[in-house]
Amino acid sequence: MKYIQLSILIVTVLFSSCTKKQAQKIVVASPDSSIEIQFILSEKGEPTYWVNYKKDKVIKPSTLGFNLKELPSLMEGFEIVNSTTRNFNETWQMPWGEQIDVVNNYNELKVELQESSKLERKLNIIFRVFNDGIGFRYEFPEQENLSKVFITDENTQFNLTGDHKVWWTPGDWDIYEHLFNTTKFSKIDALSKANHPNLGQTYIPENAVNTPVTMKTASGLHLSFHEAALVDYADMTLKVDTTNFTMISGLVGSANNDYKVVRTVPFETPWRTIQIAEKAGDLIESKLIVNLNAPNKLGDVSSWVKPTKYTGIWWEMHLGKSSWDMASEKHGATTKNAKAFIDFSAKNNIGAVLVEGWNTGWEHWIGFEDREGVFDFVTPYPDYDLKEVVRYGKEKGVEIIMHHETSAATQTYEKQQDTAYALMQSLGIHAVKTGYVGKILPKGEYHHGQYMVNQYNNAVIKAAKYQVAINAHEPIKDTGLRRTYPNTISREGLRGQEFNAWATDGGNPAEHLPIVAFTRMLAGPIDYTPGIFDIKFDKWKAENQVNTTIAQQLALYVVIYSPIQMAADLIENYEGNPAFQFIKDVGVDWQQTKVLNGEVGDFVTIARKERASEKWFVGGITDGNAREMVLDFSFLSPETTYEAIIYEDGIDADWDKNPTSVNIKKQEITNKSILKMKLAPGGGFAISLKPIN
Ligand code: NOJ
Ligand code: CA
Repeated sequence: MKYIQLSILIVTVLFSSCTKKQAQKIVVASPDSSIEIQFILSEKGEPTYWVNYKKDKVIKPSTLGFNLKELPSLMEGFEIVNSTTRNFNETWQMPWGEQIDVVNNYNELKVELQESSKLERKLNIIFRVFNDGIGFRYEFPEQENLSKVFITDENTQFNLTGDHKVWWTPGDWDIYEHLFNTTKFSKIDALSKANHPNLGQTYIPENAVNTPVTMKTASGLHLSFHEAALVDYADMTLKVDTTNFTMISGLVGSANNDYKVVRTVPFETPWRTIQIAEKAGDLIESKLIVNLNAPNKLGDVSSWVKPTKYTGIWWEMHLGKSSWDMASEKHGATTKNAKAFIDFSAKNNIGAVLVEGWNTGWEHWIGFEDREGVFDFVTPYPDYDLKEVVRYGKEKGVEIIMHHETSAATQTYEKQQDTAYALMQSLGIHAVKTGYVGKILPKGEYHHGQYMVNQYNNAVIKAAKYQVAINAHEPIKDTGLRRTYPNTISREGLRGQEFNAWATDGGNPAEHLPIVAFTRMLAGPIDYTPGIFDIKFDKWKAENQVNTTIAQQLALYVVIYSPIQMAADLIENYEGNPAFQFIKDVGVDWQQTKVLNGEVGDFVTIARKERASEKWFVGGITDGNAREMVLDFSFLSPETTYEAIIYEDGIDADWDKNPTSVNIKKQEITNKSILKMKLAPGGGFAISLKPIN
């Protein structure tokens, strides 16, 4: 590790009324010097920072601190006791992911503060400056006058430089499944979204946004605000002051407590992060969030955490073709149906089958207030022979993905976890999709408060002991913990495909995913469940549909990253459709990822190279506007000719008028090739590239 002296400077600025200690301004810059954080104590001794990008301010002076229950706040009256800097540079490998090697290179500044008053309480702030953004966290070090804190508010400010364009969802304490809004910062109005007919739970107490929230400045710079390593703390929403263009952290609370977070000292908070990029696509390539998480604590998980495609007894319930419960007499999770999915998957290079509605209790789960004790996660319905299904799957080389719908009855789930995961381990099942639909039990807790953050994290840690990976729905948001616990394979945490089956507001509009790729996806893998071919599904739900073309559904396997990707449609809708070849072929685990183009909310094209082969896959999607784009294949290996299969929107394709029109053609491609692509409204394209020499 080379210490870069030039980029870390301590500068003394003279303020007549300040003590020498207060006047100390500390500067830390990114390894490439493009991003710079400056730290100072204000005249009142408030910790204050700002951020420059290529010498222009991107965050104006912003203060940092806390309000505590029954104690004076930790906001001002500080002195700098010590400050240290270091340079860090490592390359680590993702056990599975968007790429293999991840460069983790930053300059760090640690500022140690102490109150000058009698209390002499201590608070440290650690800043890390990367070439693609910044992160900072608070550390409450061991000290005499502070042993336990009840945080009523964290007051981390982000003072913006103007009325940026913002892609935001409301700062909901209970669910992330909202559509994105595109407005000027001054027009953010989360409270007007507070009543949502499609959500089982929602609570938006103040004008705040959820993270990641992405913005574009007048000069074209992209900023995305989020957090990393959310452990034993509350989710951070960002409260907006639309007049002064300022955001302040708004921690999620609980109706049961008059504080947001309780911790014993010493402890550290999650990292507060800002990704900074000139090109929108660089936000997607940034690995800042995972870099700010601790290294793998599970060791080699490759024998049981396996990226895979999967089908499932799932969409049919959302369409109403079958049901989760048995009483309705159209039970989906039967041994026979599961075997049909296994046969189909085995035939089509798909490694797993998800089976929902397999365990008793579904008669009670919706609208049933006292949900504790309803599900036990070990007792199958009588028409579902769990052992036989798993055995049959193994014979065909197809794994079963377990399903645990906790219905947010957390105490039941906590009690059942060991038994449920042990059953899975005994059967050789290595992945579970969990669900947390409904208001949290115990009452008064919200999905994103400290209590639930610990529920979700503890489930992952416990599951690892049984070699079980978790794909959580209605989850806590992703903050990069997959680096530490690589059995965190995927999650929902957005408006997924399911909304297209039943939402009463028209489903996910065509612009949804071109926004998601630059917002929610910066947090981590998404279980979006793509691949719906019967776009209109009039046989089941005449009033609903998917608002994309088939070609866009194919593109999503590349654009939306997840190590587990569902082929979500009814299997009969794939039979005989030549476009299904792409789903058969596409990879799920990548050596390399390149964002070829993109603008937030408009379009994006991503190329990914498979780990297990030399094949590349490219996916491009557009919003509701038709678009032409030029694809330059110079990213391919030189001296290699590839056989490309191109799946593009038909000439007359349109997400509404003609969503199933798709052209499939083969052609040779090299790194000198240029292709002109035409995307229909709500359309896209998918390309597989296989070396032939
Ligand atoms: C909500 C999940 O998002 C969905 O995928 C699942 O089918 C239902 N809950 C039932 O668990
Ligand atoms: Ca959901």
